Amino acid sequence: MTLRCDLVIRDATVFDGTGAPRFRADVAVEGDRIVAVGDLGSASGKEEILAGGRALAPGFIDAHTHDDRAVTCGPECMHCKTSQGVTTVVVGNCGVSLAPLRMEKRPPPPLDLLGDESWFTMGSFGEYAEALTKRPTSVNTFALCGHMSLRVEAMGGDVYRAAKDFEIARMQDRLRESLRQGAGGFSTGLYYPPNAEAPTDEVIAIAQVVREEGGMYTTHMRDEADHVMDSIRETLRTTREAGTEDEPLDLVISHHKCSMSENFGRSRETLAYMDLMGQDQPVAFDVYPYPAGSTVLMPDKLRQDVKVQITWSVPFPEMAGRNLDHIAAEWGVTRREAGDRLLPAGAITFQMDEADVRRIMAHPRSMIGSDGIPHDAMPHPRLWGTFPRVLGMYARDLGLFSLETAVHKMTGRTAKVFGLPDRGVIRAGAFADLVLFDPARVRDHATYAAPMTVSEGIEQVWCNGERTYTEGHEPSSAAPGRFLGNPRRKTR
Ligand code: ZN
Ligand code: CU
Repeated sequence: MTLRCDLVIRDATVFDGTGAPRFRADVAVEGDRIVAVGDLGSASGKEEILAGGRALAPGFIDAHTHDDRAVTCGPECMHCKTSQGVTTVVVGNCGVSLAPLRMEKRPPPPLDLLGDESWFTMGSFGEYAEALTKRPTSVNTFALCGHMSLRVEAMGGDVYRAAKDFEIARMQDRLRESLRQGAGGFSTGLYYPPNAEAPTDEVIAIAQVVREEGGMYTTHMRDEADHVMDSIRETLRTTREAGTEDEPLDLVISHHKCSMSENFGRSRETLAYMDLMGQDQPVAFDVYPYPAGSTVLMPDKLRQDVKVQITWSVPFPEMAGRNLDHIAAEWGVTRREAGDRLLPAGAITFQMDEADVRRIMAHPRSMIGSDGIPHDAMPHPRLWGTFPRVLGMYARDLGLFSLETAVHKMTGRTAKVFGLPDRGVIRAGAFADLVLFDPARVRDHATYAAPMTVSEGIEQVWCNGERTYTEGHEPSSAAPGRFLGNPRRKTR
C-alpha cells in the first residue's frame, strides 16, 4: 500500500530531539502531524523535498523570550525567530508579561521593555489567549504570567515596596484566573528594583496558586553576582514551600549566569549545587550563548569595569548602538549622568566570563533560550543569532558538545521541562514542527554592530506542518502558530 500525504522530506539526517544518535531517514507529514519516519520509498507526497543528507530536527523551542507583544503583531514580526529555526516561544519571562494588565501611563521599568502604555490593553489573560488564537503568528506560544505585571495592577502602580496582605490576595486571584485561562505558569524578576522589594514570603504566597491550579515557576533571580548562591537557595526554597513536600513546583532558573569579574568561575559552584539539590526537586535553567547580557538601562547599577552599549533611548533615539563611555565623553559628563539623561533606555552589558557561559551551556540541565528583546532599536544579537550560534560556533566549530546534544537542548529537553506534549521530537504522531538545516553551513551573522542580521544555513522551517521560513526568501506570511495554553492545568 502506498502512503499518500502532504509532504515527504527524503534522505534527511534526522536529529530526533531526544539526544539519540542521528540517523538517515525519510519523514512524512500529513496535516499538522508527522505520520511516518523511516524508509518511505513507497510513500508519495503532494510536495517532496530532497534533503540530500542535510539535517532535519524538531523545530526549536526558544525557552526564554520577551516576545509577548511580538507574537501579537503578525508573522513578519517573528522573522528574527523563524529564520533561526524556532517554531515555539516561551513568553512572559522575568516577571514581565503583557497580560493581565491595562496601563494608562508608561509602565515602570523593566515592564516597559515590552513597550509603552499603548501596548498594555488586556485586562485578563484570557484576552491575550484569544488575541493569539484569533490572529495567530508563525510560531507557537507558551505564555507565563509575570509577577511584576500582577504587582503593578494589585498595588496601583506603587510598587517600590513589599505588597500588603490584601494585595497579595489580589495577585493570587489574578494568577489563579490567568492559569485557568491559559497561562502556563508564574514568572518573577526579583532582580529588578520594584520586585526586589518583594520578600521571599510574598513570592511563595503567590506561587502557592501554581500548586493548586497547575503550572510552573520561572525566575530571573534576585542576584546573579556576589549573592548568586543565596539566590539559588531562595529559589529552591520557593518551589519547595509553594509546592508540597512530595511535589515541589517545576522550576526554570532564567538565563543562568555568574555576573561580574569577581564571580567569574563560580558556575562550578552553582552547577554542583543545582545537581545536588536536583536529586530531590526539579531544577532546570536556560542560557543564551553570549557573555553579554541586556535589559533596561539602570544607571545606579552601572560599574566602571563593565562595558555598556545602548540598545534604545526614548529621549535620544540616535544613541542606540553606541558605547555609553563615548556618549558621556561627547556630552562632557560622567557616565552616570549620561545614563540618567538617556532614560528610559535599554543597554547591553558585558559582564560575564566566556568560560562560565560554556560550562553552563554544556551542563545537562541547560536549555537554550535567546532572551532576545524584539522592540529595541539596536538589540543584543541574541535576538537573531542564538540558535545558529549554538549549532555552528559552539557545537560544530568549538566541539563544546555534539550536534545531537545541541538539538536536544533546543527541542526535546525544553518540551519536557515545559510539559509540551508531542513537541520537540521527531516521531510518528508528533506535531510537524521541523527545521531543515545544513550542519556544514549553519552559523549566526548577527553582531553587536549589526544585530538584525539573518543567520545562514537554516534552509526551511515548518510549524504545525506549514512552512514558515525558506532561506533567501522574503518573510513568510504563514501563521500556523498556536496558543499552547497550560499543559499542567489541574482539572477538578
Ligand atoms: Zn531576565
Ligand atoms: Cu528575560
